[in-house]
Amino acid sequence: MKVLITGSEGQLGKACVDLFRKSHEVIPADIADADLTLKNDIEKIFKSSHPDWVLHCAAWTDVDKAESSRVEAMAANALATELLVDACKKIGAGMTMISTDYVFQGDSSTGYAEDDQRDPVNWYGETKLKAEQAVQGYGQIVRTSWLFGHGANNFILTMRRMMTENKTIKVVADQTGSPTYTVDLAEVLLFLVNNGTPGIYHGTNSGLCSWFEFAQEIASISGYSSETVVPCSSQEYPTPAKRPACSVLKSSYLELLDCPQRPSWQDAVKRYIDSINQE
Ligand SMILES: NC(=O)c1ccc[n+]([C@@H]2O[C@H](COP(=O)([O-])OP(=O)(O)OC[C@H]3O[C@@H](n4cnc5c(N)ncnc54)[C@H](OP(=O)(O)O)[C@@H]3O)[C@@H](O)[C@H]2O)c1
Repeated sequence: MKVLITGSEGQLGKACVDLFRKSHEVIPADIADADLTLKNDIEKIFKSSHPDWVLHCAAWTDVDKAESSRVEAMAANALATELLVDACKKIGAGMTMISTDYVFQGDSSTGYAEDDQRDPVNWYGETKLKAEQAVQGYGQIVRTSWLFGHGANNFILTMRRMMTENKTIKVVADQTGSPTYTVDLAEVLLFLVNNGTPGIYHGTNSGLCSWFEFAQEIASISGYSSETVVPCSSQEYPTPAKRPACSVLKSSYLELLDCPQRPSWQDAVKRYIDSINQE
């Protein structure tokens, strides 16, 4: 298939371009190729590439700045997705969009199933909910959380930089989620695009931890003492956008399609750190 991958310069987009190239014809597109908030840009790229499938990884991902740039964030996430869905419908192309656990309030004690009622925790979550609503009933929605991968600044790189500075690092211990490696999520997305079944899916690495436990694992794999990391509460680390206490996404629909189990988050962190150590 010809697969148009939006956000191809982003951390997930890069991993998807690398993987999908092995079995599909890939058309990578980032904002320099097409600003997805502009109908003309979408029409142009559809005309020149005529995709069979659109894997929509592009998004406004600055969660805190979304609170103060509400119109721009809504356009980049909701309007862009609406325009892409319209363009896909016109030519009968399939569509997969990436969403987030932030479409939920984050106060569950057990985590969120695919069909749980949505109630966004912050403005970024509101924009992604609108995007989901545009895709729902037509394409695939794949929610993920706590992404890390090549080519972007991320939690692991930030922690490692602070660890080299011999600082004691306070890390939030009252938020739980599943760190997810873009390389592993790209495998899930390839499986789903090949399968084609529309619906809502939850794609993360397996297992759960707090940001504090995530940081401890990074320290241990990177050869730093676990004492470099100390726990703190969310109240000690205020941010413009509210963060969910529970980012846990329970998956059952991937299993119904026989999607291979995702590796544990610890295994994913180890593979990622090994690969950056070799760069
Ligand atoms: N990062 C996470 O922890 C996380 C968690 C849950 C879900 N997600 C979702 O996963 C997906 C991938 O995230 P990511 O971390 O890979 O994002 P990312 O690294 O920020 O990449 C997003 C890409 O989209 C581009 N983009 C933004 N606005 C655009 C527009 N109007 N037209 C065309 N391209 C545009 C960005 O360009 P610029 O850099 O120039 O803006 C960037 O290259 C997103 O849908 C995100 O919402 C991410």
